[in-house]
Amino acid sequence: MSNHFTKKRFMMIALGLCASAALSGCGENRGGTPETAPAVRVISEITTEVTTEPTTLPPEEGLDYLVLVNRDNRLPENWETFLELEKAVTGAGADCQVETQTLKHFKKLQRHFQKKGVEIVLSSTYRSVQDQQAVLDDYTARRGAEFARKYVGIPGYSEHQTGLAVDVWLIKDGEWIATNEAMLQAEDLFGPIHEALADYGFILRYPKGKEAVTGYAYEPWHFRYVGEDAAKEIYEKDQTLEEYLADRNGGRVPGAPSVDYGSSDLYTKEEMDGAIIALKEQFMRTGGCRLTRIRYAGDDKCGEDALAQINASDAERAYTQCIAFLTDFYTDGTAAPPLEANTDYTDRLWRLARRGNGSWEIVTDGFDVDGER
Ligand code: DAL
Ligand code: ZN
Repeated sequence: MSNHFTKKRFMMIALGLCASAALSGCGENRGGTPETAPAVRVISEITTEVTTEPTTLPPEEGLDYLVLVNRDNRLPENWETFLELEKAVTGAGADCQVETQTLKHFKKLQRHFQKKGVEIVLSSTYRSVQDQQAVLDDYTARRGAEFARKYVGIPGYSEHQTGLAVDVWLIKDGEWIATNEAMLQAEDLFGPIHEALADYGFILRYPKGKEAVTGYAYEPWHFRYVGEDAAKEIYEKDQTLEEYLADRNGGRVPGAPSVDYGSSDLYTKEEMDGAIIALKEQFMRTGGCRLTRIRYAGDDKCGEDALAQINASDAERAYTQCIAFLTDFYTDGTAAPPLEANTDYTDRLWRLARRGNGSWEIVTDGFDVDGER
């Protein structure tokens, strides 16, 4: 087994990690005008490079209210051609924009609960790629990359860019429920709203207990318009949009790579999922390639010897755990060296490491065709 994990290579990867860490932010609910965050990293250039396999809508189709935008599916390339946005105002009095049908149905939901003494107000709605970057920067700066990763989509991969998603705040008896923490504790107020969403064509997009399916933490405040029929079916079957669309796609979530967790005495499925999210983020950030298959590489690639090898390359980082996956992916026409365009790659090894229960960081870059197998 050859060791390509040289110091030079580590430095190169570590530079990549800086951007990766900054990109892996999240979104606390900060409204349509997020604070300007202190500079975390220069990542705006990277954002514009996110080019993974754009889905293109056929021109005659118009807006697809069932569009899936998640960690595996970026915003369709020509989405804005069909998107009609309407102006609205957030609870904080800021201008915002919402897709026309979405706003019409949101207003009905709003009126229904107004009569019951609960104000549902908009906090964050349509976001451009730059807006999403600002939210990500803000949350990464204020709460750290790990927290951000659970709540905020990477620019290009956020449902907020569709115009079909609304984040809300609640007001009851003059009291604002407007921080993430307060909203997470307001089950009594959110419960009846969540139950009524489908009547207005909305779903709760990131439900509790479905974190592994959606890839995000529970967000009681994030509603997604899908239309009444789909919303009712999703609600009645206790599904996520991923699961609903998988039922219509032969059981496979559109765009998602297959995952083989193998068997491990070292890692639970949940721990592997955390590392897989870090791996997917690397693909989103790099652009030009689409993951089709992820396989756990086996405990022998993740034990003490592997960890010692990684730490020997840079003792400062002092990782305490490492994990490895083999991936298959293919590149589109925009792939840059060392990748070749329009090519299938198989069995590329990626190693990730972390300190304690911290974030997984990529330490061996599987894009390298000479990478250790
Ligand atoms: N809060 C959702 C996941 C987003 O930022 O897109
Ligand atoms: Zn949201």
